[in-house]
Amino acid sequence: MNNIYGVILGAGEGTRMKSCLPKVLHRVAGKELISHVIECMNKATKMQKLIVVVGSGSDLVIEQLKKYNADYVFQKERLGSAHALLQAKNKLKGLNGQLIVMCGDTPLVKFETIKNLLKYHIKNKNNATVLSGIVNNPYGYGRIVRNKKGDVGCIVEEKSATEKEKEIKEINSGIYCFDLKVLWKALSKVDNKNNKKEYYLTDVIEILNKDGYKTDAVALTNEEEILGVNDRKQLAVADEILRKRKNEELMASGVTVIDPRTTYIDSDVVIGQDCIIKPNTIIEGNTKIGKNCIIGPDTTITDSIIKENVFITYSYIEESKIETGVKIGPFAHIRPQSVLKENVKVGNFSEVKKSVVKYGSKINHLSYIGDATIGKNVNIGAGTITCNYDGKNKFKTIINDDVFVGSNVNLVAPVNIGKKVLIAAGSTITDNVSPNKLTIARARQIVKVRKK
Ligand code: UD1
Ligand code: CA
Repeated sequence: MNNIYGVILGAGEGTRMKSCLPKVLHRVAGKELISHVIECMNKATKMQKLIVVVGSGSDLVIEQLKKYNADYVFQKERLGSAHALLQAKNKLKGLNGQLIVMCGDTPLVKFETIKNLLKYHIKNKNNATVLSGIVNNPYGYGRIVRNKKGDVGCIVEEKSATEKEKEIKEINSGIYCFDLKVLWKALSKVDNKNNKKEYYLTDVIEILNKDGYKTDAVALTNEEEILGVNDRKQLAVADEILRKRKNEELMASGVTVIDPRTTYIDSDVVIGQDCIIKPNTIIEGNTKIGKNCIIGPDTTITDSIIKENVFITYSYIEESKIETGVKIGPFAHIRPQSVLKENVKVGNFSEVKKSVVKYGSKINHLSYIGDATIGKNVNIGAGTITCNYDGKNKFKTIINDDVFVGSNVNLVAPVNIGKKVLIAAGSTITDNVSPNKLTIARARQIVKVRKK
């Protein structure tokens, strides 16, 4: 196999986004545009090196690249796409092999497409291969001008195209394979004598072709893949396409999505077989859901691990671990760093934060459980509150196995409740209780004669 290298052009300012955030860091389907592109390339082929051309606001982009072990070069002035690619020359000088070039703002390209492009490029011994697309409305794109042999003679940009050229429906996706041996010399010949005074990468095709090198294009079958994100409207379109793809992928793998139009599932989410996802459900980030779960309606789950046979309805789960057979909702909020062990139930306006709730325990009505460890088979009565915060510091509540907490109990932390304790309703517990006791902490009721 040839040596393969990759460059992603991402120094564009993204003016049309009207954003303080670099364009390539805007997210679709829960992931940065640049991450979609990097992952696409990584999945398509093994590269010896991947270099991203970064521009203004680059610090944040460089930070993002660390996740992928990708290198970067800085383009100080934005003089055009050819100039951008030239910035990577120093890092690739003297190397032989093939170079894949993509733009950082095309999150919809499938890895199979890049794989095929590369395969075609190598098989046909091309010196440059453009990924093209046949579109109904080619407006705004560079047009692929083929010569008599069928080779690509040149690419003309919208602004430079003649009326006849404007009619060409085969357009440039901005994705290419180049033979490194011949690229740099041709690239150095590109000038900026055009209406935009930019160094167009597309001109390298004409230069190579005139020098007798083989320049070709392979057309995409699915034109939606090449949509670039330049403004928030296109961001929403890309998001919608990726969401639809994700839903379809899940359905194909045996997940029921009752209403795909109102189901928002990020690209990296994993959902097991025979799960049912009900309407108005958002599943985000690195969430993994096991088999046979029923999720929704009106539920949001972020960065959480959900095991099998879990039922979650009308609820919000963040960065937590939910084990097999747990029932959550309606109207529960599970906040970060919580662990709900097997068969736990939490519902009806209850909140759990940074707590471990062990096997079979129930927090079913109007409770707040924070910074707590709750043992097995504990019943938390309606309206129970762990008073974990004194205004400055947070303290822990420990409730051991088989405790029965009556309704409307306040547990003033730090406090430890022994096994099998019964706490009477309405108690405010401030002291530890040893196992097997009954504790009551409230004023005794008195009854007086009522004055007329
Ligand atoms: C480019 C192509 C066009 C193609 C279209 C597909 C050129 C001249 N034209 O047009 O044929 O149909 O993409 O979407 O390449 N960039 C830099 N530094 C620069 C300039 C650009 O890094 O100085 C990067 C941008 O971040 C972007 C890419 O290069 O990722 C393409 O540049 P852009 O200005 O978006 O080109 P288009 O007009 O879209
Ligand atoms: Ca573009």
